[in-house]
Amino acid sequence: MSQSAFPRIRPRRLRRAEFIRSMVRETSLHASQLIQPLFVAEGAQKGAVSSMPGVVRRDIPEIVEECKQLVALGIGCVALFPVLAPELKTEDGEQALNPDGLVVRTIKAVKAACPDLGVMVDIALDPYTSHGHDGLIDASGYVTNDLTLEVLRKQALLYARAGADIVSPSDMMDGRVGQIREVLERDSQHNTVILSYAAKYASSFYGPFRDAVGSAANLGRGDKKTYQMDPANTDEALREVELDIGEGADIVMVKPGLPYLDIIRRVKDRFEVPVAAYQVSGEYAMLRAAIDKGWLDEKKALLEALLCFRRAGADIVLTYYAKQAAQWLAE
Ligand code: PBG
Repeated sequence: MSQSAFPRIRPRRLRRAEFIRSMVRETSLHASQLIQPLFVAEGAQKGAVSSMPGVVRRDIPEIVEECKQLVALGIGCVALFPVLAPELKTEDGEQALNPDGLVVRTIKAVKAACPDLGVMVDIALDPYTSHGHDGLIDASGYVTNDLTLEVLRKQALLYARAGADIVSPSDMMDGRVGQIREVLERDSQHNTVILSYAAKYASSFYGPFRDAVGSAANLGRGDKKTYQMDPANTDEALREVELDIGEGADIVMVKPGLPYLDIIRRVKDRFEVPVAAYQVSGEYAMLRAAIDKGWLDEKKALLEALLCFRRAGADIVLTYYAKQAAQWLAE
């Protein structure tokens, strides 16, 4: 029998035992790399989200309690999303600028109770508008760009002054990062981080989130295709990211997550900035449904999915599973 009957190179050698697998492992996952999205609500808006089993809309005292637990688990940051009563939503989303509004009060309460926990807030109008769009609409229903920027800059300034560590424009208006950076600098909010939703796609995977904040019914049969990106495009994502970095973003985000890992990889390969990925509500709902049916092993499937974000190039992952994942990682 000739020597060539034996494989000279056996990749399986490095997979034989856990000690060697962990020595050669290329990617790691830590609680500190996860951001926990939280829905803040009051009164009748509180409670479960039917399309996201396990996700709860909490009032401010409950949010504070949850944040204390997250800190204890090593989670470094939360992302706040307000759920407004329908009667508070208006055509121009004026509650977004209420100096005593739900988000402002929540930022203050969380920072007072957990000063070392990072607080990130969305900059966009969709939780506040009666039509469910992220910006102001004109008579034809088109979301106007530059008029919306006027509101977004005020919203970002309000939240930064209230103590938000990270402002996150999720609206996809052109030029918003530059405008927000400008207004923050002028107000001496030099250390407010801008994490922009740079490559945000017009995705069907946001459905459960829109249920959670009550914008789905308002949006009706409308969509966000005139401002969010076409899922068919990838070069355009690089262009969006380049613009946001040039305008002053510190961290750029790709959204949704798992079906868009190729975008994360291209962004990470091209730019030397931290990249975030959002495992969005529809991804949560899909995994959760399969888990609840007993078709997937929850812990294994989730930790794998989160690790895959890191492998694809994401430094940071927003996931509704952050708390649970932190518990598993601590075991
Ligand atoms: C609002 C916003 C959305 C999400 C985060 N910020 C919804 C949207 O753009 O319609 C989606 C998050 C998720 O689906 O988990 N601009």
